Amino acid sequence: MTVARLTTQHFRNLSPKTIDFNPALNFFVGDNGSGKSSLLEALFYLGHGKSFRTSKTDSLVRYEQKEFVVSVKDGRGSQLGLSRDTTSGTTIIKIDGERHARLSELAKNIAIQIVTPESFKLFFGGPKERRRFTDLGMFHVKHNFSSQWKNFSRVLKQRNACIRNKADDVTLAYWTEQFCQHSVIVAEERSVYIASLIEELKVWLSILLPTISDKVTVQYLQGWSQKRLLSDVLAANQDRELSFGYSLYGAHKFDVKFLLDKQAIETQLSRGQQKLFLLALTFAQAKLIAKVNRVKPILLIDDIGAELDIKSRTALSSAIEFLNCQVIITAIEESVLQPFIESNNSNEYKVFHVKHGEVISI
Ligand SMILES: Nc1ncnc2c1ncn2[C@@H]1O[C@H](COP(=O)(O)OP(=O)(O)OP(=O)(O)O)[C@@H](O)[C@H]1O
Ligand SMILES: [Mg+2]
Repeated sequence: MTVARLTTQHFRNLSPKTIDFNPALNFFVGDNGSGKSSLLEALFYLGHGKSFRTSKTDSLVRYEQKEFVVSVKDGRGSQLGLSRDTTSGTTIIKIDGERHARLSELAKNIAIQIVTPESFKLFFGGPKERRRFTDLGMFHVKHNFSSQWKNFSRVLKQRNACIRNKADDVTLAYWTEQFCQHSVIVAEERSVYIASLIEELKVWLSILLPTISDKVTVQYLQGWSQKRLLSDVLAANQDRELSFGYSLYGAHKFDVKFLLDKQAIETQLSRGQQKLFLLALTFAQAKLIAKVNRVKPILLIDDIGAELDIKSRTALSSAIEFLNCQVIITAIEESVLQPFIESNNSNEYKVFHVKHGEVISI
């Protein structure tokens, strides 16, 4: 889907408002604290059922209010809506007027990816964000993955409970065998996905970081030694797992490492280059999602001016044109949008001003 219209009520500092989007490019310009990130947060919330800034959903409700509502209409008239009542702690999800119980239902309809000034630090800072990123792509690209992951998670939970409660040998052996089977299924599926992501990444690096694109390599670490069977690794580490109280190896411990001349990317690239690298990766993933044709990806880029010079923004503008998906960008200064505006016809984008939570199309 593309977002044709967004309506928010009592979400952060945003004034209750309906905003009509361009199907291609949208820019939101405003001062610090005007509400730009809040607007992206509202869209992100609909795609993920959570914020990219906080785990406390109730802090999204406008001060002194008790409930927020966010809804979007897509280009074909389909509607997704979500409301959160902090008094009763209830969340209501509606898709085309029908109520749904699970937030994950929202994600089936909309594939929202975001890059913020902080995201490259998180992404290169530890495996958690890289796992989240990869699994989001897998969820949209590999249709079986959601059930494979659910089965794996259930078994992981059972096995962890066995370890924690020091279950008898027969019970632990049963769950360990199940755990190995499901780990292998998930790890193989991921390895196929990551191979396609690496292929696609090359295309986007050649646009966004042409000087380094040939020197980049990617390592997929499946969560245990590639050379050994998981069952052997677990048998050799049984005492350690018992003392830690959970599963130390398996598909949940996977990672993806990015290297430049065999050194970790984050130790070799500048901040701006790291951001471009993450954008290239995000574009690669968006392209894979778009190819599957189940949902259209929507890309949010918060504070485009941060870290990126004019040359980088010009390259980014070409990449966006090539990506051909809906992109929503925020900026503090309108002047940073120059390369994007110059290369597009005025009917291919929309500019909005954001002031004290008020959004005005110009
Ligand atoms: N629950 C809330 N209710 C009302 N206002 C809020 C709430 N949470 C945050 N705010 C305020 O909303 C304003 C907008 O924040 P937001 O992060 O969206 O600004 P921004 O335009 O992205 O600014 P910057 O350019 O600094 O990133 C801030 O002044 C913030 O204090
Ligand atoms: Mg912001």
